[in-house]
Amino acid sequence: MDELNVGVIGVGLQGQIHAKSYSLLKEANLEAIADINEKKARKIAEKLDVPKMYKNYENMLEDPEIEAVSVATPDFLHRDPVIDSIEAEKHVLCEKPMATKIEDAEDMIKAWEKSDVKFMVCFENRWNPPFRDAKRKIENGDIGRPIYIYARLNAKRSVPLEMLSWSDKSSPVFFIAVHTLDLCRWFGESNVSVVDAHGCSGFLKERGADVLDSVQSLITLENDVECLMESNWILPESFPHGYDFEFGVYGSEGTLEVNTTHQTCSVTTDDSFIYPEIFRIMSVDDSPYGFVPGAVRHFVQSVLEDKAPMTSPLDGKAATEAALAILESIDKNKTVKLSE
Ligand SMILES: NC(=O)c1ccc[n+]([C@@H]2O[C@H](COP(=O)([O-])OP(=O)(O)OC[C@H]3O[C@@H](n4cnc5c(N)ncnc54)[C@H](O)[C@@H]3O)[C@@H](O)[C@H]2O)c1
Repeated sequence: MDELNVGVIGVGLQGQIHAKSYSLLKEANLEAIADINEKKARKIAEKLDVPKMYKNYENMLEDPEIEAVSVATPDFLHRDPVIDSIEAEKHVLCEKPMATKIEDAEDMIKAWEKSDVKFMVCFENRWNPPFRDAKRKIENGDIGRPIYIYARLNAKRSVPLEMLSWSDKSSPVFFIAVHTLDLCRWFGESNVSVVDAHGCSGFLKERGADVLDSVQSLITLENDVECLMESNWILPESFPHGYDFEFGVYGSEGTLEVNTTHQTCSVTTDDSFIYPEIFRIMSVDDSPYGFVPGAVRHFVQSVLEDKAPMTSPLDGKAATEAALAILESIDKNKTVKLSE
């Protein structure tokens, strides 16, 4: 097999980026897309010249031509399409968070363990060029042993208020902080052990979204690396980039800091000042570049080369467990210890 035939389930904002990434990848053929919003699916199929379009993903899974799928349905709706795809013997790339309930994560893992398919959870920041480079420097010993990690990832208020019709079924923890949770686990090379979190709400609730405004989490990993994570989704619309992302690893021999907010480029006109998106997806010489295509390419290559993907459903479950511990800590105003 030197090319993979793929389909995408859920072609909202993120599913479209998966679809675009597959369509630009030489080693993938974007054969089909499926979305319960038929009008949207038809529009995307026409735009990306996708041969097959389905309203029900179950019909897409009956197609023997399709070998692998991306699942990019809303945060709380990953379970069924993932399990149905695995049972139809399709390899699966599932968007983060893998699940918003631990039972869903466990059901997906059970289905995967009974199968022969690859199942990757799309923690795409592991393919974000600045983080990739930082990880290599740490593995190289440039800053010694990590002692403390700081991670701040914030989004604009339009994300819960306008962009996501389902924001009240997610939270800044599931939609945003799972990225930094995965980075803390990846850079700290250990699982989350203890969580002490605080959150505030009211601003978004007054504006129609019954969700937390902001979450601050102090996390201890099993190897005693301490992490401080902050996530809010109340940045004003005038913020010059789609998100605010600051990350630092403080080690025994030095410090390493990543800031992807500024994207290394800015554009100022009479009316605005922006940092244009560079790292998520762009096309360079007709090849996809950026962290989403990087993750998608890794998934395709893992299937074609029959290798385990870098991010497994066990990483997905670990992030979901830690996210639930953060929410429990906020809800009960107590420190939460994760079971071994
Ligand atoms: N928007 C982002 O910047 C972003 C970034 C990274 C990851 N993600 C993740 O990607 C996933 C999707 O997020 P989004 O922002 O694209 O949401 P979205 O609401 O824009 O898109 C979700 C799509 O799934 C479709 N859908 C729902 N149920 C379906 C079903 N049973 N079968 C087929 N289609 C179905 C909806 O009609 C919609 O088009 C989420 O898990 C999110 O956390 C989003």
